[in-house]
Amino acid sequence: MRIQVGIVGAGPAGLLLSHLLAQRGIDSVVVENRSRAYCEARQRAGLLEDGTVKLLREAGLGQRLDTEGLEHGGIYLQFGGERHHLDFRDLTGGRTVTIYAQTEIVKDLIARRLADGGALEFDVTGTAVADLDTDRPVLSYTTAGGERRELICDAIAGCDGFHGICRPAVPAHLLTVRDRDYPYAWLGIIAEVPPSTDELIYTHHPDGFALHSMRTPQVSRLYLQVRPDERIGEWPDDRIWAALRRRFGLPGWELKEGPITDKAITPMRSFVSSPMRYGRLFLAGDAAHIVPPTGAKGLNLAFADVTVLTEALDLMMRGDSRLADGYSDACLGRVWRATHFSWWMTSMLHTQPGGDPMDTDLQLAQLRYVTTSRAAATSLAENYTGYPPLR
Ligand code: FAD
Ligand code: PHB
Repeated sequence: MRIQVGIVGAGPAGLLLSHLLAQRGIDSVVVENRSRAYCEARQRAGLLEDGTVKLLREAGLGQRLDTEGLEHGGIYLQFGGERHHLDFRDLTGGRTVTIYAQTEIVKDLIARRLADGGALEFDVTGTAVADLDTDRPVLSYTTAGGERRELICDAIAGCDGFHGICRPAVPAHLLTVRDRDYPYAWLGIIAEVPPSTDELIYTHHPDGFALHSMRTPQVSRLYLQVRPDERIGEWPDDRIWAALRRRFGLPGWELKEGPITDKAITPMRSFVSSPMRYGRLFLAGDAAHIVPPTGAKGLNLAFADVTVLTEALDLMMRGDSRLADGYSDACLGRVWRATHFSWWMTSMLHTQPGGDPMDTDLQLAQLRYVTTSRAAATSLAENYTGYPPLR
């Protein structure tokens, strides 16, 4: 079978890419090894940059986002028993961020692709890519019904996340990998309780970092720094709420508690693999880079990549490969800015195991600077709300 673009992975990157390509009349097949229900329920990101919201609106995907998304004009930073507000609208000339869960974006994208007649193959097995250094790369897989398929493509997009098969298909000697594992992880919960805050609270505490986020006016999303080797069984609900109460505790402020409907531990890492292209294989999103979630950049970066990739593939199909040749460099500038910002936020807010008091005092000095200097606050706000809007 011939297809213009074979896409591996029905995460946010693969789904948005197939939608943007369809809008330009380019056909694609998205191949996913999980079920549709699993992809729609996987709890992950929640925070969209200003430019990401505009991008989704311009792509005709803003309907539910505009009615259900929660627009935030800032965040709180808490440390040393004080909570400080950073006003992004004021600091950036009007930029905001929006809470709209990745689960909802994935549902919107899948519904839209199916409504537009898009080809999505869930529950596949044996995904493989071959002939990547020719102009007829091949994507093969076995459908949920047990039929083996071979798609001969003009290009393959590797949108299959950090553990996918596309990045390992690039000869290792051609890749440069930069990698950092952090000595902590995040325990994330979803709780059926209205958020106890109007905007996100990032907390530095001697027991460890905590983040109060949200999903809807009825549902809270909270995170606790834990050891990377900790098992979720060690964290019964009571222990989670006690730790959250301690880390967020301020006189006169109360953390509302409710039933926990989801809990999971995620390790933290920074990872950049370059170049993001090998022959006719283009990597996008978590397949090429990972950031720790403290800066809320992962999903936004994935969308930035596929925006560039759509343009590059469109031109390539029409015989102009200049943007395809520049794809990796075009993405990596933003990737490295976000990698630095995420590392910086992570280093400023997390407790170092072993608890060196020098480290702690340096973190507190940085937090005081960010909350008292307009220049420092503007730098955080500019990075957090995102970079120039994408087209
Ligand atoms: P993925 O979402 O990983 O999708 C890849 C897809 O490929 C998956 O569906 C997978 O099943 C499929 N796949 C893998 N292997 C194969 C195969 N062999 N064959 C077929 N399919 C395959 N980002 C933000 O921007 N803001 C946030 O607030 C934020 N918070 C986060 C909180 C947490 C706890 C976590 C874990 C992440 C967070 N992120 C955040 C990061 C964000 O979720 C990811 O960056 C985003 O999911 C990347 O999308 P993707 O499409 O590149 O990859
Ligand atoms: C989330 O809502 O899941 C979220 C928000 C901000 C972050 C990370 C995660 O920095």
